[in-house]
Amino acid sequence: MRRAKITIVGAGNVGATCAHWCASMELGDIVLLDIPAAGDMPAGKALDLMQASPIMGFDSNIVGTTSYDDAAESDVVIVTAGIPRKPGMSRDDLLSTNARIVTSVAEQIKATSPNAIVIVVSNPLDAMVQQMWKVTGFDPSRVVGQAGVLDTARYRTFLAMELGVSVEDISALLMGGHGDTMVPIPSCTSVGGIPVTQLIDSQRLEEIVDRTRKGGAEIVSLLKTGSAYYAPAAACAQMAEAIVRDKKRLIPCAAYCDKQYNVGGYYVGVPVVLGSGGVEKVVELQLTDRETADFQNSVDAVKSLVATMESLLSS
Ligand code: NAI
Ligand code: 2OP
Repeated sequence: MRRAKITIVGAGNVGATCAHWCASMELGDIVLLDIPAAGDMPAGKALDLMQASPIMGFDSNIVGTTSYDDAAESDVVIVTAGIPRKPGMSRDDLLSTNARIVTSVAEQIKATSPNAIVIVVSNPLDAMVQQMWKVTGFDPSRVVGQAGVLDTARYRTFLAMELGVSVEDISALLMGGHGDTMVPIPSCTSVGGIPVTQLIDSQRLEEIVDRTRKGGAEIVSLLKTGSAYYAPAAACAQMAEAIVRDKKRLIPCAAYCDKQYNVGGYYVGVPVVLGSGGVEKVVELQLTDRETADFQNSVDAVKSLVATMESLLSS
């Protein structure tokens, strides 16, 4: 049986770590791709990872490259290309630079892997996934963004730490954009089947949600030289697994919503069924009035981000 071909664009912290998780999970053969200026770096990382395979016992062919020829006809493309925010850079600087990078990556994916399912990771995530969809022209089910799996994993970790229980017993859901406006859904958060609101009072729960919203910034302030990569890369590997193994995972992703939740044609974090067809279904929940208002606020923030990106790209 032919193995899935997974290309990871951007061989930096998130990309290389994602290659590591995908290889160790034996999801398929992997192409780790970066810009020509990266020289032999992607090849070096790929060869190093291949040499771990006899020790760790995984079978995966891993190639590092700067040429899209090696990435042709990929089944899944994970886009981590871009710059993280550096001191002195405005949010618009990051938006403008990464929008141009994602535009050029999207053109290459369209030309070389026209049937791929694309997972976008580059930030600001909600705008980058919208741009990927627009430039590739792919069906929206084949372009999806990674944010919700990571944000929910952070939330589950903090809840497990608070309660002194296994992370495996925490089931939770966050919706909305990848940022300060992300929306917790307490009615969909439980611990071993027990509603979280029976175990943690509302004030403490709000503090845990706040830490989750600032989860990316907390890691940046500790690392000082970059942003998180182990958990983001693990989140991408879980999404890639759902696609290549057609697992039909019900997980939160940035998905295209038009009539769903009355979003009107934008990518935003919602629960989806992810399988071999990409986003096979956007799951619509009955939200409370507060959750609906918070979700609308988050959607408005995403729309404003996309409008800023479009004006920066046209200037
Ligand atoms: P990094 O700086 O370690 O790696 C980025 C890599 O992208 C570099 O190797 C760079 O040469 C490469 N690159 C730049 N332009 C490219 C192009 N046109 N084609 C191919 N490769 C290109 O950064 P890191 O930590 O890996 O983060 C990557 C991106 O992912 C950033 O935008 C970051 O903010 C974002 N991110 C998003 C998360 C999410 O939850 N959505 C979580 C963590 C990071
Ligand atoms: C994070 O949440 C930087 O988006 C990235 O860690």
